[in-house]
Amino acid sequence: SKHYAVFGHPVAHSLSPRIHTAFGRQTGIPVDYAAIDAEPGQFVHALGDFASRGGVGANVTLPLKQAAFSLCDDLTERARRAGAVNTLVRNGDTWHGDNTDGAGLVRDLTDRHALDLRARRTLLLGAGGAARGVAPALLDAGIGDLYIVNRTAQRSDALADALGEPGRVHPRYLQDLPSMGEFDLIINATSAARDGGIPSLPRSIIGPRCAAVDLNYGEVAILFLAWARASGCHDVVDGLGMLVEQAAASFALWHGVRPETDAVYDSLLARHD
Ligand code: ATR
Repeated sequence: SKHYAVFGHPVAHSLSPRIHTAFGRQTGIPVDYAAIDAEPGQFVHALGDFASRGGVGANVTLPLKQAAFSLCDDLTERARRAGAVNTLVRNGDTWHGDNTDGAGLVRDLTDRHALDLRARRTLLLGAGGAARGVAPALLDAGIGDLYIVNRTAQRSDALADALGEPGRVHPRYLQDLPSMGEFDLIINATSAARDGGIPSLPRSIIGPRCAAVDLNYGEVAILFLAWARASGCHDVVDGLGMLVEQAAASFALWHGVRPETDAVYDSLLARHD
């Protein structure tokens, strides 16, 4: 039988098995989807083992998205632009890599949260796998200029370079934030809150119609979104909807059917409140 799984480290609390099982029930497709913990150094081995046991599709989460990108034999255009893979599809003896994170985020923001992203002056905090995954789709969705700020400047420079739109994408230093003006969209793509803190941010970055988005969900998203709300942001959105939307896109790739996401999103929201 065909197996599916999410790989991550840690992965025990991943909601992906529940989401894919719910999509399977909804579409009448039997889904066998597990969570597999793999440290970065063991990922290639764990994935090979999975394939030999009938694994045909996998999601990849923190901190393995860039490692997944490196092991794929071929990639979609959006995965190549992101330099990160969140969805693997077995193709004979090889892995095909895609990235559904960015499309998932844009769908969640525009459809579920009714945000018009066009021309928004945007600040992206972070330049790791999560930031890489969403940046191309945000640009394609028609945001205005994109400013990338990261603790390690080398990585924001590299991401800005990789996006290949120098007129529109600007890497900046964390310490430049107070003089960078107001934004209409601020996205926290750092994992800082997982170690207990977010970088300290000046209020001056929040414009009058600013939306704040945290790609994390649950407790990890609370710090940044509480700061954003207290600083005057009207729209604050966590990453739960993106999680459900990227899962739906992965499900469609594997099973050829796009599931409906609202019921699953609502049930997860109820659990988290
Ligand atoms: P992910 O897949 O979640 O993006 P990652 O590739 O490890 O994971 O990237 C984590 C991101 O969070 C990076 O942008 C990281 O900054 P560095 O590139 O400087 O490491 C950022 N980050 C993690 N902890 C942070 C902290 N305490 N303060 C600021 N940024 C932090």
